Amino acid sequence: MKILCKRTIVSLLICSVLSLNISGSDPIAYMNTLGYSPAQIETAESNNGMVSTQHFLATRVGEKILNKGGNAYDASIAIAFTLAVVLPRAGNIGGGGFMVMYDKETEKSYSIDYREKAPLLSTKDMYLNQDGSFNDQMLSTFGYLSIGVPGTVAGLWDVHKKFGSLPWSVLLEDAINLAEKGFEITPFLADILFKYNEKLSFFNETKNIFQVSYPNFEGKLLIQTDLAKTLKIISEKGRDGFYKGSVANKIAKAMKDNNGLITKSDLENYNPVWRKPLISQYRGNNVITMGPPSSGGLHIIQMLNILENYDLKKVNHNSKEYINLLTEVMKYAYSDRSKYLGDPDFYDVPIEKITSKKYGKRIFNDIEIGQSKPVGEVKPGMYLETESHETTHFSVADSDGNIVSSTYTLNSTFGSGVVIKGTGIVMNNEMDDFSAAPGIPNQFNLLGAEANEIAPNKRPLSSMTPTIVMKNNELFFTTGSPGGSRIISAVLQSILNIIDFDMNLEETTKARRIHHQWFPDILEIEYSLDNKTRKELEDMNYSIVITDPLTCLQLIMYKDKKFYGYGDFRRVDAYASGEIND
Ligand code: DON
Repeated sequence: MKILCKRTIVSLLICSVLSLNISGSDPIAYMNTLGYSPAQIETAESNNGMVSTQHFLATRVGEKILNKGGNAYDASIAIAFTLAVVLPRAGNIGGGGFMVMYDKETEKSYSIDYREKAPLLSTKDMYLNQDGSFNDQMLSTFGYLSIGVPGTVAGLWDVHKKFGSLPWSVLLEDAINLAEKGFEITPFLADILFKYNEKLSFFNETKNIFQVSYPNFEGKLLIQTDLAKTLKIISEKGRDGFYKGSVANKIAKAMKDNNGLITKSDLENYNPVWRKPLISQYRGNNVITMGPPSSGGLHIIQMLNILENYDLKKVNHNSKEYINLLTEVMKYAYSDRSKYLGDPDFYDVPIEKITSKKYGKRIFNDIEIGQSKPVGEVKPGMYLETESHETTHFSVADSDGNIVSSTYTLNSTFGSGVVIKGTGIVMNNEMDDFSAAPGIPNQFNLLGAEANEIAPNKRPLSSMTPTIVMKNNELFFTTGSPGGSRIISAVLQSILNIIDFDMNLEETTKARRIHHQWFPDILEIEYSLDNKTRKELEDMNYSIVITDPLTCLQLIMYKDKKFYGYGDFRRVDAYASGEIND
């Protein structure tokens, strides 16, 4: 059977090594060798706005809302609800995320944190055995104990209240229809449902939705009747439809019946937070991005500050010099992440210091170009002036100049694997983004410390990096991606590709991505690497692993009064389009 021989490209854990050597070939051709035809073939162009999401059906819904006269915020809300239906492994109402916005009317940027929170009953040691060792029963990644209090519906509701122009119920119409009537399972989704058969069969409620067509999913309809009912309640009652009443009761009951921690009061008290976005300049461009509790934006700014000291135009893209420089820069950022980053409502994150140009310069001076510094010699905050102390991204730009860049997630593919009985809601496993204990890596091999330890009501640290780059007060481009720890490095490279290497969206997307996160000491390179560069990098002492693609950029660019969009073929159904009327 076709699906059996296809290689997974959705693994969230350290990636499998490709046996194919496809060096030099077009990455789209690589996807074709896996039997996929990406939805995006050419760069989308439009005079009137652009929508870029990880599923073509959600992109169409976004366009429809813009064509009804809705703004970028309306379209984004409708997209988020639609992705909860058509991209159930990541799109969600049972998870959380971040949204960065530029609002034309007020000429200001905004960001909202709708990240999940730890339930009130959670404790610092909840994933440890009595002797303090880590309990490796997957408690933080699978099942009820891994679930954080969801934030998506509350976040979207707040955005609607502040910026929305169409009625809330209009924004849910398409999601409800798609859940109720079903939509055709694409080959890509079919493979994922097949691959995750074990995870999706453990709980009956989940199995009865996602495994009914096992093993032949392709072309069948995925119908989500309970989810449609839940979305109807949310459509009628707004935020309260999720956090109070029958849906909240069902969540609290399922938790109680299965030793989960979330209570009705956790739900009622959930609050999204409007936070000041982080804003910095990179070579004359304004980078607007998400601050803590995401680490993504802060480290993007930190790494850009380091790299600004180097004339990147002097090196060839993805040459050994470039990979060496970028890898060294990443080591410092991810090392700082392990110590200083956490929920700013609970821990004093040194945001100004880490994002200062001075700190960037100091790190730059410490990098020894032409070699790999042993990771043991890169320590968190070395030059800080201290007292020594399956996600998805979508972007929308409308013709009025409003811009939205949002990344939201269930964390792992299909989150905790739990669907709350009678609601169709797939629940996140975001609790794994906390640091269970110092030295214990999470599923993305990320380490953490006190800054990111578990506490009731606290938000787990994230890597999600929804970002808007502006030039001369106009949109230049938006970027963002899924991929756990690799989000930060992917977003960084999209910025460098566009600003330093003058790449267009297609070139930016096709370019291979590299990743190093300080721990473990591995340089990941997507797809393949020619033998010569590999040897040169290994001579510098890098341990290289060739990986499957693990990120997926959704890019929108504005240039010469035209919008351009490109959905990343790495997750085949991704699609950007701008079929929007004058
Ligand atoms: O917030 C974070 O950093 C993670 N929960 C994101 C997970 C993710 O990107 C998975 N997607 N492939």
